[in-house]
Amino acid sequence: MSNSIVIFGASGDLTSRKLIPAIYNLFHKKRLPADTRIIGSARSKFTHEEFCAKLRETTKQFAGESFEDACWAEFSQSIFYQAGDMEQQADYQRLAKTLEDMEGGQEATRLYYLATAPRFYAPAIAGLGKAGMADESHGKRRVVIEKPFGTDLATAKELNIEVHQFFDESQVYRIDHYLGKETVQNIMILRFANTIFEPVWNRNYVDHVQITVAEEVPVGRRGGYYESAGILRDMFQNHLLQLLMVTAMEAPARYRADSVRDEKVKVLQAVRPMNGKDFALDTLRGQYKGYRQEQDVNPQSQTATYAAIKLWVDNWRWQGVPFYLRSGKAMSCRTSQIVIQFRQPPHLIFQTNKRVQVQSNRLVLQVQPNEGIQLHFQTKVPDAGMEMRLTDLDFSFRREFNHELPEAYERLLLDVMTGDASLFARADEVERAWTIMDPIMQAWNSPAAPELFQYEQGLWGPEEACQWMADQGRDWFDSCPVLR
Ligand code: BG6
Repeated sequence: MSNSIVIFGASGDLTSRKLIPAIYNLFHKKRLPADTRIIGSARSKFTHEEFCAKLRETTKQFAGESFEDACWAEFSQSIFYQAGDMEQQADYQRLAKTLEDMEGGQEATRLYYLATAPRFYAPAIAGLGKAGMADESHGKRRVVIEKPFGTDLATAKELNIEVHQFFDESQVYRIDHYLGKETVQNIMILRFANTIFEPVWNRNYVDHVQITVAEEVPVGRRGGYYESAGILRDMFQNHLLQLLMVTAMEAPARYRADSVRDEKVKVLQAVRPMNGKDFALDTLRGQYKGYRQEQDVNPQSQTATYAAIKLWVDNWRWQGVPFYLRSGKAMSCRTSQIVIQFRQPPHLIFQTNKRVQVQSNRLVLQVQPNEGIQLHFQTKVPDAGMEMRLTDLDFSFRREFNHELPEAYERLLLDVMTGDASLFARADEVERAWTIMDPIMQAWNSPAAPELFQYEQGLWGPEEACQWMADQGRDWFDSCPVLR
C-alpha cells in the first residue's frame, strides 16, 4: 500500500525548514515507508521541478550533515507540486483526482498536513471533507493540524466542532513539536521504566517543580504574529503545559495513545482554577526592553514576552507542591529544563562551619540543548571535617549515544504515518489547556492586570521575578544548560 503526504502551505517556512528536511532525513535513514510520495500545495505557481529545486536548497541548509546529492536526487523523484487555493472547492476536487491517479486507484494512506496560517484550518478541513477526501473506504486518511489550535477556549471549541464535522477524532493529529523531542519522551521512560524515581516523585519528597523554557532570541521579524499571541498563547498553552502534563501524569496502564492522553488530561483537570487575587499573586509578566521597537510591534504594546506562573495540581500525588512555569524571549541563553526540587532533609546532624543553608537534592531534566539529566546531591568535602558540598551525577545523550538527536518532526511524521497518536494532543486536552490559560489572558487584559515589568535583554527575565520567588522562600534555578 502506498502513502501520500499532502502538504498545504507548501511554499511556507515550516515546509522548507522543518517538514521536508524531516521527511528527507527519514528517507536517508531508510525509515520512510517505501512508495511514499509528497505533494505540495500552495497558491504560488511552480512546476514540480521548480518546487524541488527550491526545496533542495533549503533542505541542504536545514537537514544537517545528512544531506547528500545522490540521496536527494532519489528522494526528490517522489516530490510533486500542485497549485491550489485553499478557499476554492474546485481545487480540492482537482487535488483528489490527482491523488487518485497517482495512487492508481489503489488503497493508500493519506496524510494531509496543514502547514498554513491558522485561518485556513477550517476552510481546509471543510474543503477536504466536501471533496470526499476524509472518507476512509480506500485507506486511512489523517489530518495534521499545527499550533495554534484556536486562540482561546471558544475558538478551539469551534475549530474542534468544524474538524469533527468531517474527520473522526481518530483521524486528527494536533501537533505540539515539544512532544516530538526525545528528551520529552524520555521523561516517560525515566519515570515509568525505572523503579527508583517514582517512589520519590510526589508531595512526600518534592518541594516544588520548575519548568523553564528560556529563549535567547528576541521576537525578531515575527512581531506582527507575536503582538496578538504573546508568551501565553505562543508557549504556555501548548509547550509548557505539555511539559507539565508529562512531568505530573500518572503511569498509564499501557503505552497506547488514549491511555497516555487520558492520564495527561487528568493533570490539566486537576490544575486549580485561579480566581480573584490569584492572578496578581501567582502570575508575573514581563516585556524585554526594545520589544516595542521591533518591526510590526505597537510602540505602546502591553504584550508579555516573559511569564512566570505558579500552578497547583490538586490530586493525591501533588497536593501542596507548586509547579512554577516560566518562559521568555531575549533571556540569558537558550535552555529548556525541568527541575524537580526535593525537600530538605528533615533534620541535619552535621554542623557546617559556613552559615549557609544546605541545598537539597535536585534532579535537572535538560530538555535542550545539551540534552541529558543531572542529579544534585551533597558530598563530603575531603579533608575538611564534615563539611559538605553540592555535587552531581550526570547523563548526556550525546556522550552516551554518540550522535545528534533527531528533529522532533521526524518522529512525529512517522507516527502519523503509522497511526500512533500518543504524542499528539487530543481535542479535550487542547480545550482543557485553554481553560487554564483563558482566565489568565483575560486577567492580563483587564484594567486590574498585574504590572508589566520591563527587563533587560540577556537576563533571566524581570528582577521582580527573583523577588517573587524569594518571597515564597525559593530561588529560581537560573542556569544555562547544566551539561556540556
Ligand atoms: C514555537 C514558538 O512554537 O516554539 C516559537 O512559536 C518558539 O516562538 C518555538 O521560538 C520554540 O521551539 P524550540 O523547539 O526551539 O524550543
